[in-house]
Amino acid sequence: MKMGVVVSTMDGPSTRKFSFVIDKGRSVKRGQFVELKGEQGKVIARVDDVIKTNRYFTRPESVKEYESSGKQMREIFPVHDWEYLVAEASILGIYRAGGFADSLVPPSPGEGVFEPSEEVLVKFFGLDKDGINIGKLSHHDIDVKLNATRLLQKHLAILAISGAGKSFLTSVMIEELLSRKPEQGQLAVIVIDTHGEYTSFADDPKFSERTSVFPVSEIQIGLSNLSPRELTRFLGKPSDAQVRELVKIMRRMGGKGYGVKDLIEKVEASEMPAKTKEVLVSSLEDLLYTGVFGAADYPSLDDVAKQGKLSVIDLSETTSLRKKQMIVSYLAAKLFHARRHGMIPPFVLVLEEAHQYIPEGSKKEEALARGIMQTIAREGRKFGASLCLVSQRPIQLSTTVLSQCNTHIILRITNPYDLDHIGRSSEGLNRAVLDQISSLRVGTALIVGEAVNHPLFVSIRKRKSKESDKNLPLEKAAVEYYRKITQKQKDAKEFM
Ligand SMILES: Nc1ncnc2c1ncn2[C@@H]1O[C@H](COP(=O)(O)OP(=O)(O)OP(=O)(O)O)[C@@H](O)[C@H]1O
Ligand SMILES: [Mg+2]
Repeated sequence: MKMGVVVSTMDGPSTRKFSFVIDKGRSVKRGQFVELKGEQGKVIARVDDVIKTNRYFTRPESVKEYESSGKQMREIFPVHDWEYLVAEASILGIYRAGGFADSLVPPSPGEGVFEPSEEVLVKFFGLDKDGINIGKLSHHDIDVKLNATRLLQKHLAILAISGAGKSFLTSVMIEELLSRKPEQGQLAVIVIDTHGEYTSFADDPKFSERTSVFPVSEIQIGLSNLSPRELTRFLGKPSDAQVRELVKIMRRMGGKGYGVKDLIEKVEASEMPAKTKEVLVSSLEDLLYTGVFGAADYPSLDDVAKQGKLSVIDLSETTSLRKKQMIVSYLAAKLFHARRHGMIPPFVLVLEEAHQYIPEGSKKEEALARGIMQTIAREGRKFGASLCLVSQRPIQLSTTVLSQCNTHIILRITNPYDLDHIGRSSEGLNRAVLDQISSLRVGTALIVGEAVNHPLFVSIRKRKSKESDKNLPLEKAAVEYYRKITQKQKDAKEFM
């Protein structure tokens, strides 16, 4: 369908941009993609802006003169016939049978501008009919199906302000991953669910069979599975002497299942300087207090990493950051190790509120999981261990890890520092695109990086799974609370 004709302007057409006058009756929207014939092949471009002009209104003094005569210009002149629209477009690249090329020659004025076919856009952006369907290409009726390898292998980051729809989008992606057939390649999906928003998958009949939830109260780290080195990481900043004594004792105890209490007993019974003993016992008591350490691991790796299944590590019942970090650090290390040795299926580890686990700048002993996450970020792609980070503040995230995330999905972001950060770390984002990020509506996202050949905006599809009731809007939450309380009172009355 023809939409307009390229016009000659002061600074175009160039190899980067051009303007076209829009045909009468056609609607062209900012952000929409267009194509036209060029010397090198099909030129694909994005509309950055649409400008309305009318020759009748270009001279303010005449407009004023006419309007003050008591009649409106609209009534005197056929102004409508002279109104026209010009679209400004940025050239993204050239598409031709053999592949893609950079635009090196400007299109010609007079060239017709058309709406690209689905086939052209799918190829141009590098979408995949077997891919993960997250929604529709903005302004086009085309499914955005992202190739799973390109999206996840080199890690993914989902970034936006609070309430912009990160968890919603993550749920949509999980639905897609769980719906894949074995021949399409199924991953094990493990979610570190900081706020307990993903447990609703287990309550939804469509997904419950493929979902396991592990509440924090049941999670155990088998103390005897830890090497002394691993254990000392959890002890804050132990002195060399403390580490030495602990190693000795743990060696003597061997690999059999023992808990923190057993270890404390052994420390108390052993010979070592009183001061060392006192500090060691006290830090072990801190561990005991977390309630995470037991004689054996729960859940087992085989239960957590199941092909085509979802495991929700529900950490919502604890507020202790240290405890959360311990669990995540231990689990991630175990998953990565097992994956390296081919003992579990390829997996994607989704880290909700990722800045809690991989903060930038905080001390090592206050960021227990950062080391292992950096390792997975650097080496995971070779072993089929992928990370999906979800965060509200990109600037607070470890740059080492974030820079290894080769695809970014960005929803609304308003903080200028975060925007700058993204502008610098993502290729192919011009000012026009960056400016749109701060005004994105809930449910619209920008995808940049490995997963797509060019940045694109997508309207996230509706979810098929039940939404968590943790996500109720304020008024609904108040109504729900009222309903529960009155029900309780009614029950109590009936009972008496
Ligand atoms: N694509 C969408 N379509 C319809 N509703 C959406 C969409 N995305 C998000 N929402 C709604 O917006 C609200 C906030 O979404 P969500 O919880 O995903 O935000 P978030 O970015 O994860 O926020 P936070 O950082 O606080 O966790 C939810 O009530 C959700 O239902
Ligand atoms: Mg969220």
